[in-house]
Amino acid sequence: MTVSGEVDLGTKPVAGPATIALEVDGRAVMVPPGTSVMRAAALAGFDIPKLCATDRLDAFGSCRLCLVEIDGLATAPASCTMPVADGMRVRTQTPRLERLRRGVMELYISDHPLDCLTCAANGDCELQDAAGAVGLRSVRYGTEGDDHLDLEPDTSNPYFTFDPAKCIVCSRCVRACDEIQGTLALTIRGRGFDSLVAASAGESFMDSECVSCGACVQVCPTATLTEKTVIELGQPRRSVLTTCAYCGVGCSFRAELQGDEVVRMVPTKDGGANEGHSCVKGRFAWGYATHRERVLHPMIRGDVTDDWREVTWDEAIQHTAERLRDLQDRFGAGAIGGITSSRCTNEDVWAVQKMVRAAFGNNNVDTCARVCHSPTGFGLKQTFGASAGTQHFASVEHADVILLIGANPTDAHPVFASRMKRRLRDGAQIIVADPRRIDLVRSPHVQAAHHLQLRPGTNVALVNAFGHVVVTEGLVDRAFVDARCDRESFDTWAAFIAGPEHSPEATETYTGVPAAEVRAAARLYAKGANAAIYYGLGVTEHSQGSTMVMGMANLAMATGNIGRDGVGVNPLRGQNNVQGSCDMGSFPHEFPGYRHVSDPTVRGQFEARWGVPLDAEPGLRIPNMFNEAIFGGFKGLFVQGEDLAQSDPNTHHVAAALAAMELVVVQDLFLNETSRFAHVFLPGTSFLEKDGTFTNAERRINRVRPVMPPRAGKHEWEIVSELATAMGYPMHYDRASEIMDEIAALVPTFAGVSFSLLDEVGSVQWPCNDGAPQGTPIMHVDHFVRGEGRFVETPFVPTDEHSSRAYPLLLTTGRVLSQYNVGSQTRRTPNVEWYDEDVLEMHASDAEERGIRSGEIVRISSRAGETTLHAHISDRMSPGVVYTTFHFPVTGANVVTTEHSDWATNCPEYKVTAVQVAPADVRTPRPDEQVGADPARELVRMANQITDQFRHHERAVAVDEVAKHLQTFWDPHMRSELLALVDAGAAGIDPVVAAAAERLRPAVPV
Ligand code: SF4
Ligand code: SF4
Ligand code: SF4
Ligand code: FES
Repeated sequence: MTVSGEVDLGTKPVAGPATIALEVDGRAVMVPPGTSVMRAAALAGFDIPKLCATDRLDAFGSCRLCLVEIDGLATAPASCTMPVADGMRVRTQTPRLERLRRGVMELYISDHPLDCLTCAANGDCELQDAAGAVGLRSVRYGTEGDDHLDLEPDTSNPYFTFDPAKCIVCSRCVRACDEIQGTLALTIRGRGFDSLVAASAGESFMDSECVSCGACVQVCPTATLTEKTVIELGQPRRSVLTTCAYCGVGCSFRAELQGDEVVRMVPTKDGGANEGHSCVKGRFAWGYATHRERVLHPMIRGDVTDDWREVTWDEAIQHTAERLRDLQDRFGAGAIGGITSSRCTNEDVWAVQKMVRAAFGNNNVDTCARVCHSPTGFGLKQTFGASAGTQHFASVEHADVILLIGANPTDAHPVFASRMKRRLRDGAQIIVADPRRIDLVRSPHVQAAHHLQLRPGTNVALVNAFGHVVVTEGLVDRAFVDARCDRESFDTWAAFIAGPEHSPEATETYTGVPAAEVRAAARLYAKGANAAIYYGLGVTEHSQGSTMVMGMANLAMATGNIGRDGVGVNPLRGQNNVQGSCDMGSFPHEFPGYRHVSDPTVRGQFEARWGVPLDAEPGLRIPNMFNEAIFGGFKGLFVQGEDLAQSDPNTHHVAAALAAMELVVVQDLFLNETSRFAHVFLPGTSFLEKDGTFTNAERRINRVRPVMPPRAGKHEWEIVSELATAMGYPMHYDRASEIMDEIAALVPTFAGVSFSLLDEVGSVQWPCNDGAPQGTPIMHVDHFVRGEGRFVETPFVPTDEHSSRAYPLLLTTGRVLSQYNVGSQTRRTPNVEWYDEDVLEMHASDAEERGIRSGEIVRISSRAGETTLHAHISDRMSPGVVYTTFHFPVTGANVVTTEHSDWATNCPEYKVTAVQVAPADVRTPRPDEQVGADPARELVRMANQITDQFRHHERAVAVDEVAKHLQTFWDPHMRSELLALVDAGAAGIDPVVAAAAERLRPAVPV
C-alpha cells in the first residue's frame, strides 16, 4: 500500500463473470476463471507475502515467497502462478508456510544492506514489509562469503538511481520495461549468484535504450530503483489525484507530496487513459512549476522597449481593461480579440472565449489548436458529424490492422504508443505512412508491414490511392455503406475515386511510394477484420489537412471500420487539452459545442444565460488577426498560454503583426518570445495549481486538481473574469465547478458532466448526457452523429510549396520524446540532458552533395527566412527531405516555415517547407519576396486556395461551394476586403473567387 492507499492485488484481473467458488482460510470467495490464488486470497481479505508479483505485471513465480497450501496437494505452490479451481480450499497461514517463507526471506536479507533506517525507501519498501509479514527476526548466515553489497550505484539518469546492492533480482523491472513500456531496455545478465539487472548491453541507464518512463522504478519492490526526489526529500505524506498537462494522452497521476512540495508523480492504475503508465515528461518533468524564472507578479509597461513594472492585480486588471476599451473606442469593437490555450483547463478556456464574446462583443477568439488540429474538427464534422476522434484508447487492443499516418506516438504520445506496441506484439499489423522512418517502422518486436515513405505534402494523393484500390478491387463493405451512409454521397465519391488519376500507379508520381506497395497496404487495411486509423499533425498541418481528414473518414466508412472496438479514425492530439479548447468554443465561427454563431436558437441560449447580445458573424482567425494587425485594423490581443512568436509559422510575419498592435496581453508562466511584444504580463498557473478539467484525445474529461495554491495568487479563470468585469461585463465564479456547471447547461454533449460526477467515476468521455450518463467510449455505434455518414470528394491539389532550384529540399517538422511543444516547460527541467537543441536531420546523400558532415552547423533557408542548426546525418530520412523540431527559441525553426495553410481552416503547413541547406559559412541567396508582407496578396491567395479544392466540379457548383465557405468561415471584414479587391480589379483573383464574392455582396456590411 502507498501513501494513496492504492492496493496491489498481486496479479492482473481477469475479465468475465465470477463463476469459480473457492475457500481461502475458511472464507468463501468467487472470482472469474483464470484468476490466481493470490488475487482470490487478496479479494477475500488475505494478503499473501510476495516480492516478484504485482498486479501491474504478468505473474512470474520466481521469488517463492507466496507459497500456499491447497487441499489435495502435497507441495506448497506459488499462489501468484496457481490458477483457482472450483471448490479449491486454500490455506495462506500455516506453521509450515511460515517456516518456508522465513527461509526464503533469510536468503534475500543475507545479501541485502541492513540500512533500513537511512534507506530512502524506508516505510515504502515491499522487502521490508515482507520481512515483517513473515516474522523474520534474525538471519542465520554470517557475513563471510560473496555478496553484492559493494556494487556501485548508477546515478546517470537525471531522475532515478539504480543501486544494484539492494537488488533482489525479482525481474519486476525487466518485465515492466517489456510488458508495460515495450522498450525492452533491461535484461537479467548472468546466472544464479551472478544474476544482475543490466540496462541494454550493460551500459549506464543514461547511455542505454531506456526512455525514462519510470515503469521499472514504480514496480521495484526495494530501493534499488528510486526517484532522486525521494532520496532528496524523503517519503511523501499526502497525495492528490490529477492529470498530466503535457500531451493529448491525458494520463492520470497521483501527485505525492510533503506539504505543498511534490515528491513524485505516480501514474494511477485506474487512470482511464493510461492505466498506470506514464512517460518521462508526466512522471518526471514537472519541476518547471517551481522554476526560478516563473513570473509571479503582474507586470505592465508603456512600450515594449520599456522595463517591466510589477503592479498589483487590481492595477494590472484596471489598466488592461481601460486600454482594451480605449482601443475599441478608437478603432471599433472588432479591433481586439483573444487566443485561448490548449494547455489550460476547459474552465480557463471557457472564461476567455466568454470574455471575448460577452465583454469584447465580437467573435475574435481563436486557439492554438488552429495551428495543429483544426482540420480534424472540420473534416470529421463534415463526414461523421462530430469534431472528435471516434474511439477510446483501449480500442486499439482490438485492432488487427493499424494505419498510422503522420504521427510518431513513441515520441509524441508515448503512453498510447506503449499500448499500441503491446497490440503489435500480440499480432496486429501496422502500416506506417510517414516521410521519416519513425520507431514504429522498426524497433524491438515491432516491424511495420509497410512503411509508405511518401513525399511531404502528398497525403491526399496517398489516401485517394487507398480509396481507389478499395473501390476498384471490390473491397467496399456494401452492407455498412448501405445501412449507415448517405448513398448519394457514396456513389459520387466512388465514381470520383475510381478515376484513373487516383490509382496507385498514377499517384506514385506525386507520393514517390511504389504503386505495388500502396496496393498491398490498401488491401491489408481493407481486409483487416478490425482496421483502425491513427493520425497526427503530419496529416493536419498541410494545405490540404482538412481534405486528408475527410479522405481518411471516407476510407473508414467505405470499409465499414467505424462504430465498434478496434476501428475508427483517431486523431492523436498534440497538447493536453486541444480537444477541450476546441469543445469550449475557441473558434471564431462556433459557440462551445461546435454550433455556428449564426444559429439564432443557439445564440439565443447563450444570450439568455450570459445576459448580453452576441455577435452573429464569425470573428477573425489567428492568421487573419495578424493580417488585420498589419493592415492596421486589429490593435489589441489577449494571449492565453501560447507563445505565438515561437510556435506560429513564418516568425517574421508574426513578429510584424504583434509589433503593429497597440496592446498585447500575455497570460503565461514565463516571459517568452511573444512577451517581447507585450505590454501587460499576467502570471498564469501551472497544472499543479490549476483546478478544472482537461479533455484528452479520446474525449475523456479528466479532473485537474490543485496540488498547491496558485503561486501568483489567482486562478486564470479568475483573472479573466475580473478583466471582463472591469471592462463592464460582470463575470464571476466562486469556484471552477461553477464554470463546469455553466458548460453543462449550455453544451449538450457535456450536459451530464459535473465535478461531482468526475470525483465519483474518475473520468468520462463526452457525449455525457441523458442519453449516455456514463459517457461514450466509442462514437457512431448505431448511427453517425450527423445521421448518415457523408462521403466527400477529396481532389488532390499539390501544395504551392514545392521544391525548386533555389530551395530543392523539403523540410518537415516533429517532436522528440523528452521535449514538448516550444519547450517552455521541458527546457526548464533535466529533460535537456537528452535533447538540448533542435538539430537538422538529413540523408547522407543530401549532406554529401552539400559538403556537410554530421555535427556541423548548417544554414537552412526558405522563402520566409533562415536559421542555423547542427546537422545530423540520419538514415531515418529519405533523400530530398530534411527534418527538425521546434522546441528551442534560439533555433527559431519557424523562421523558415511559410504562410501556406490548410484551405479550410488556415492550419499552417508546417510539414512542408521548401528549403536549401548549406554549410553555415555559405550564404544562400534569398529572393526579394518577403512572405506575408502584403496582406492584400495574402487574402487573394487564401481565397484562391479554397477554389482549388472545388475545381473538379462544374463552375457553378464551385462558385456555390466557395461562397458557402466564405460565408461560414470568413468574418465580415475579410469578406468586404475581398470584395473591395474584386471591385478594384486586383491582380491574381481567380474568376471563381470573384463570382463567389459577388454572391456575398448583400451580406457584406456597408
Ligand atoms: S531493480 Fe528492483 S525490480 Fe529490478 S530486479 Fe532488482 S529489486 Fe527487482
Ligand atoms: S525507465 Fe522505462 S524504459 Fe527505462 S528501463 Fe525503466 S521501464 Fe525501461
Ligand atoms: S503520455 Fe502524455 S499525458 Fe501521459 S505522461 Fe506522457 S506526456 Fe503526460
Ligand atoms: S510472489 Fe509469487 S513467486 Fe514471487
